[in-house]
Amino acid sequence: MARYPFTCALVTGASSGIGHEIAVQLGMSGVSLVVVARRGDRLEELAARFKNVEVLVADLLTDAGLSSVEARISDTTKTPIDLVVNNAGFGTSGLVQDLDVDRLTNEIRLNVVALTRLSHAAITAMIPRGRGYLLNVSSVASFQAGPRLAVYSATKAYVTSFTEALHEELRGTGVRVTALCPGLTRTEFQSVSNTEGFATQYPNFAWLNPTEVARDGLNAVTHGKALSIPGAIYKGLSAVSGITPRGLARRIASLTIRRH
Ligand SMILES: NC(=O)c1ccc[n+]([C@@H]2O[C@H](COP(=O)([O-])OP(=O)(O)OC[C@H]3O[C@@H](n4cnc5c(N)ncnc54)[C@H](OP(=O)(O)O)[C@@H]3O)[C@@H](O)[C@H]2O)c1
Repeated sequence: MARYPFTCALVTGASSGIGHEIAVQLGMSGVSLVVVARRGDRLEELAARFKNVEVLVADLLTDAGLSSVEARISDTTKTPIDLVVNNAGFGTSGLVQDLDVDRLTNEIRLNVVALTRLSHAAITAMIPRGRGYLLNVSSVASFQAGPRLAVYSATKAYVTSFTEALHEELRGTGVRVTALCPGLTRTEFQSVSNTEGFATQYPNFAWLNPTEVARDGLNAVTHGKALSIPGAIYKGLSAVSGITPRGLARRIASLTIRRH
């Protein structure tokens, strides 16, 4: 069983996929949890499995939902939260002109606005304590433009850039900030984001499982790394994309994310 330096962790999107795995790994290590998502029944299952789990049902697309999570992060009357995991997020595949603009707006509000507000709440609570951890879930999609996942890739580019900047800003404060950048991971993301076709388009070796992604992210934030890119294949691809001319990287991405 892994040992982590956290006492109490708040995880958004803990009802499914990567966030659920992060919550499970923390719970198994004896870390107290505040689990956040809209599906309360899934969160109650986590609460039944581990000691010291607070269920916080919240829709991060509503002002009330977002405020309730910000308030819990700042609350000094309960166990202070020393790890915040901004994991809730979704994507939308297709050509931009064919997609519902309200859905795209919500994607930006969840992946960018909610993550920024909760990061702000986390660091303002942690800096005076001289200690804390923030793990923001981004994606390898953040490293180049993503035709047919245009808004999603752009939101994740924001997450990686914002998180790397915070990592530098908070040097010396005792607060550690990490962007977790997974590649393809089998979760509910594919059905929510209409990318189920990826299951047949990409070979098995391209797929990560949420358990290894969660482990990698938790280890990286524990050790104060700026970026976590789980899986050798994605580490290699990210290194190559960093030295590939932008135009070529764009064309390759366009051919890789095919219609499905
Ligand atoms: N799977 C991949 O291939 C992949 C790759 C790279 C990065 N990621 C990123 O990993 C993160 C987790 O995704 P996943 O793959 O684990 O997908 P997932 O299984 O669909 O989980 C998404 C989580 O976000 C929560 N969520 C969605 N909308 C919400 C809202 N309005 N308010 C509160 N919670 C909300 C969902 O809970 P409720 O529905 O119960 O609210 C769920 O727990 C995302 O940020 C995603 O972009 C995924």
